[in-house]
Amino acid sequence: MLKVAIFQFSGTGNTYYISQLIQGEMREKRIICDLYAIEALKESNHLIDHYDVIGLGYPIYGSSIPYIVRKWMNRLRFRRDKRGFVFCTQMMFSGDGAAYGARLLRKKGYRILEQEHFNMPNNITDYKIFKSSRLINYEKIESKNIKKVKRFVKNILLEKKQLTGSNPISLLLGLTQRIPYHLMERRFMNHAILLEKNCTLCNKCVELCPTKNFVIKDGTLRVRNRCILCYRCVNHCPVQALHINKRGLVDTPYHGPTKQFKIKDVMIDDPLNEVIDELEIIQ
Ligand SMILES: Cc1cc2nc3c(=O)[nH]c(=O)nc-3n(C[C@H](O)[C@H](O)[C@H](O)COP(=O)(O)O)c2cc1C
Repeated sequence: MLKVAIFQFSGTGNTYYISQLIQGEMREKRIICDLYAIEALKESNHLIDHYDVIGLGYPIYGSSIPYIVRKWMNRLRFRRDKRGFVFCTQMMFSGDGAAYGARLLRKKGYRILEQEHFNMPNNITDYKIFKSSRLINYEKIESKNIKKVKRFVKNILLEKKQLTGSNPISLLLGLTQRIPYHLMERRFMNHAILLEKNCTLCNKCVELCPTKNFVIKDGTLRVRNRCILCYRCVNHCPVQALHINKRGLVDTPYHGPTKQFKIKDVMIDDPLNEVIDELEIIQ
């Protein structure tokens, strides 16, 4: 039986949501499909040994891949025996956002089966320019993406290779965002988070941050230099004390793509992962 592992990073839940839809569709087709949280893993080569196909999911940041995912990819061992697929979520447009990840996976020896973009709500909530889409239509998100995921999974299994964003125009459009984003990332990323005085020391950002960028010491919240711009803390601070935009606070935080969504779920591997359970039983 085909064994698929999806490795995903999701700052605010959109990529996790699409990962779960893909996992559900694969499982419906009786394929073993396990879901892992990149932020919870130091190294994944030992896990990958047990799967035939690797899926990679991430949110688009300036037509690029979040730093935490790029770091994870750097540690992947080169191997020619694995196949892969890539998907990313974006609020609007990334040119070659998924093709970029696919190219990096190819460099690691993987044969790419399919790549796709999924449009999801915007999670940048402290810039006025991005505030137009604050009313979330949960039904629309579901119906639109279920159809697209079904097509995506079918393409993976039939190796149809529509390979969204692989043409030269998409590459060019991607580069026009990616180059400035990487310059900006290098300059600002590490000291991006700004803290307001109304912080209540509730510890939520300490618990939620994927890079452990916050510590409470001597009765104050300290921000270390590890921000990867995922906007998780910004959107889940209960008093909107955190922001990245120097001139803007959050008025309507983004709390995820479903009404029942729980942010902590994005941080852990799926408790129902099958292959690892099997391995633990054998050991
Ligand atoms: C730093 C940053 C940069 C972003 N850049 C883009 C972009 O270039 N194009 C786009 O369509 N969306 C962009 N977005 C929006 C996210 O890609 C989108 O909301 C995504 O679905 C969030 O996924 P997540 O909830 O899994 O973190 C950006 C978001 C952040 C935080």
